[in-house]
Amino acid sequence: MSVSNKDKFEGLQLIYEATSQVDIPLVKSILDEEDIVYLIKGEHLQNLFGIGNLGMGFNPIVGKTKFYVRQSDVIRSTELISVMMDSLTNKDVEMVKEGKLNFSKPTLLLNKQKCLQNLNFMVEKAYKNSLSFRPHFKTHQSAEIGEWFRGFGVNKITVSSVDMATYFALHDWDDITIAFPFNQRNMKEINVLSEKNSINILIINEESILFLKENLRHQIGFFIEIDTGYHRTGIDASNFTDIEAILLKAREVELLEFKGFLTHSGHNYNANSIDEITEISLDSHKKMRVLKDKFIDLYPNLILSIGDTPSCTLLNSFEGIDEIRPGNFIFYDVMQYKLNVCKLEQIAVSVCCPVVAKNIERNEIAIYGGAIHLSKEFIENSFLDRVYGLLALGDGRDFTEIIDGGFVKSLSQEHGICHIPQEYLSRIKVGDLLFVLPVHSCLTCNLLKEYHLISDDYSKKNIIFQNK
Ligand SMILES: Cc1ncc(COP(=O)(O)O)c(C=O)c1O
Repeated sequence: MSVSNKDKFEGLQLIYEATSQVDIPLVKSILDEEDIVYLIKGEHLQNLFGIGNLGMGFNPIVGKTKFYVRQSDVIRSTELISVMMDSLTNKDVEMVKEGKLNFSKPTLLLNKQKCLQNLNFMVEKAYKNSLSFRPHFKTHQSAEIGEWFRGFGVNKITVSSVDMATYFALHDWDDITIAFPFNQRNMKEINVLSEKNSINILIINEESILFLKENLRHQIGFFIEIDTGYHRTGIDASNFTDIEAILLKAREVELLEFKGFLTHSGHNYNANSIDEITEISLDSHKKMRVLKDKFIDLYPNLILSIGDTPSCTLLNSFEGIDEIRPGNFIFYDVMQYKLNVCKLEQIAVSVCCPVVAKNIERNEIAIYGGAIHLSKEFIENSFLDRVYGLLALGDGRDFTEIIDGGFVKSLSQEHGICHIPQEYLSRIKVGDLLFVLPVHSCLTCNLLKEYHLISDDYSKKNIIFQNK
């Protein structure tokens, strides 16, 4: 949304000028909680609207910060802020300042505002390119986060297992693609799910069709999964023989409806530049278009469905493609950052980890946060060190300052050993909390299974449970 600075401030009144970093999250949380629309003006950064204005970029707020609200909210908001400030003890303030909230174990923090901004971006991308949006819910696996998507008009989803489909069907999602090759041993659950819901499955061989012919009880849709170069599963895009054989067999199964071709260009994750991602993705689209052209006369309603966050984030041309299924974009992570797909400020999840030891000679800090929390996924930095997570300092609610040059360098089951540049070592004490930005957010969330929502009042723990 483009609003000039002059327009933004017209009719708004300054109600609070933050005197320290601590005030900002507190004032924001109280205004958010009361659904008061506000504008924050930071000295060095772009302005941020509060509620209802999600299309703008996000930056951790630093410098002198002013809060503006509408005339009609001035009295209410100043009263709320003054009551809240009076009720804070020095200890509370110190705790926020030093990041010493009561996390005694690795805790997954989630910034809702960033998620909504990431979501808004992808919804707009789909809209501008006339694409149907079927986001992958395996990244967050949370019914509550699913509702944020529903708020943007999303009504169909992708999942990676029958269990996940069942979970989301129980939470009123009734149009679900299970984007994993059909598993005969799930037949019973698929028959239950498809009784009341629109379910799509992936087919990659004739055996599945023969099995479905005997065992399927209700109408379902199927996509043929296509391998455009990732080489995980799927039929090679040029293998018309196998594709035709499947389609021919499927014609004998009245309950099976062919929906189209689906691919996931996971090989984008091996790319070294935006250009390479673009090249891989456009090649993948081209291979998919060949299939569309070949089969559209026989199946006039067939669609092409593609996934992956890198291509959906970076590309602005989706010729011939009908549907996108990105998942990771809702949180992003260090892997996406390394690929230049997102900025660090867009990463919506971090793991808050207690510092348990410091080794000044080795420039190391040990945290409670190991492979069972972060996963063993790593990227390599320019010195070819393995990086299991980037590091940040925080304000007790979220990460605010990236530790330049710091990273998790090794992991054992519960320990994380962090490399910390000299200039930061004196700022971190045993007992503090460090924020780890995960390499692969889907894996980290799946391990921790519990979110601590940080956009609320810092003292209120708002937990959303995942699938388990
Ligand atoms: C079939 C399929 N579709 C979509 C996605 C979402 O891709 P991303 O994780 O890049 O958002 C995945 C992720 O693995 C997938 O396997």
